[in-house]
Parts: sequence; C-alpha cells; structure tokens
Amino acid sequence: MTPVEAAAALVWLVDMGADEVVQEAAANRLAPPPAPAQQELANVAPPAPRGDAASIAAACSSLAEIEQALSRFDACPLKKTATRLCFADGNPQAHVMLIGEAPGREEDELGKPFVGRSGQLLDRMLAAIGVSRAESDPAKSVFITNTIYWRPPGNRTPTETETQMCLPFLMRTIELQKPRFIVCLGATPTQRLLGRNDGILKLRGKWFDFGQAGQVIPLLATLHPAYLLRQPAQKRLAWRDFLALAEVMAKN
Ligand code: URA
Repeated sequence: MTPVEAAAALVWLVDMGADEVVQEAAANRLAPPPAPAQQELANVAPPAPRGDAASIAAACSSLAEIEQALSRFDACPLKKTATRLCFADGNPQAHVMLIGEAPGREEDELGKPFVGRSGQLLDRMLAAIGVSRAESDPAKSVFITNTIYWRPPGNRTPTETETQMCLPFLMRTIELQKPRFIVCLGATPTQRLLGRNDGILKLRGKWFDFGQAGQVIPLLATLHPAYLLRQPAQKRLAWRDFLALAEVMAKN
C-alpha cells in the first residue's frame, strides 16, 4: 500500500466511526485468512446463509442455539467492524426481559450487554427495586439483550435496516425466553417492537400489549440509561417507571 492509499484508508476508517486502536500492532484485515488445519475443517460449521435471518432464527430451539446462529450469521455489516458478538446476560428464567439498543465499547470488548457506565447505572436502578441480573430467583432477576448484537462503529445509533435485519433473532429470543414482562430501554427497542415512530418521551411510562405467537406480553417503555447519564434530571421519570415495574412484578 502506498502512503497515499494508507492515508485514504485511514480517512475511510474514521468515516466508518473507528475511534480507537484495539491492538498495539495493527492487524492486516485485508490479508487472506490462514488456511485452517485439516482437523479444524471437519469441526467448522457451514456459514449461515446471508440475509435469511427469519428462517435461521425460526430453526433455533434454545437461547444457546440463537447465540450460536448469530455467531455464524454474516449478513449484518456491523459484525465486520465489531470485536465480538454481544447477545445476552442475566437469568434465562427471569420473569422480566430488558431490551436495550446496541452494545457500546465495553460491551464489544466483553461480549455482554450493559457492562459499561450505562450498565452500571442500570444495575443500580434494578437494585433499588430489589432486582438483579445475577439473581437466581426468576421473580427477582432479569434477562438482558439488545435490538442489535454487534457494536455500531463509534457508538452511532443502529440504522433501521440493521435493526430490522436482526429483529427475527430478537423475536425468537422473546418466544423462547418467555418473559412475563418486557421493558424496552429507549426509543430503538420500543419503536421496533411496537412498530411505532413516536419519540421515547411520549411512549415512556406506558404499558403496551406486545403480541407474538398467540401470546400477549405487557411491555413497558422507559428511558435509556445512557440518556439518563446525559440528562440526570430525567432520572425521576425512569424511577417512576421502575416503581411501576416493581409493582407488577410483586403481583405476579
Ligand atoms: N447500551 C445499550 O443499549 N446496550 C448495551 O448493551 C450497552 C449500552
């Protein structure tokens, strides 16, 4: 690569949202992958067909299978720029499923949703109502996932195309995890699951019926913890929503 080509490649990376160096020595991502050893070849699962998220998700019969299928799903362009897949965390038996937007930098590094600053705030909010992702009692725990499973470059908001592409996996996750309640954190999951375009300040604090596969699941929309970190005065609204959640959890 000439110096001019290298400079152009660098500008392109910055345009794509690259904002950090993840290794001390730069990886040559244009080099062809090394040929796998013969024995490895036998164990490698065939790549998932591009774009066929709906049929791939429908064929999964457990949360572990969804995670496996996502690790082989190459149609989402975000996978190319992310470090690792970030599927879910918490108790798979939990009565409540929390759905965020997309992994950030720390989530991308650890492969778990909500482990950065927003996640720490979320954990404190949950603790305030006696709930934790680490709790084994399904009535006091949560299962946490996102609308998208790879970090968008530079933490930009995922596009509608990206979230729609991953939506069948989220829908199947809901079908298999069978939460009694869903809590959407922020506009993106609320809009995708309800098929609405209203802003989160209009939707938050309200319960909606989320219907899927003959099931109706009460869905509460609330503010995203990252928004609360930027607008701490709005925490009182989120607190109201979490108290409403605690109330329905106590009755069920
Ligand atoms: N924000 C999200 O929406 N999800 C995460 O996992 C982390 C931050």
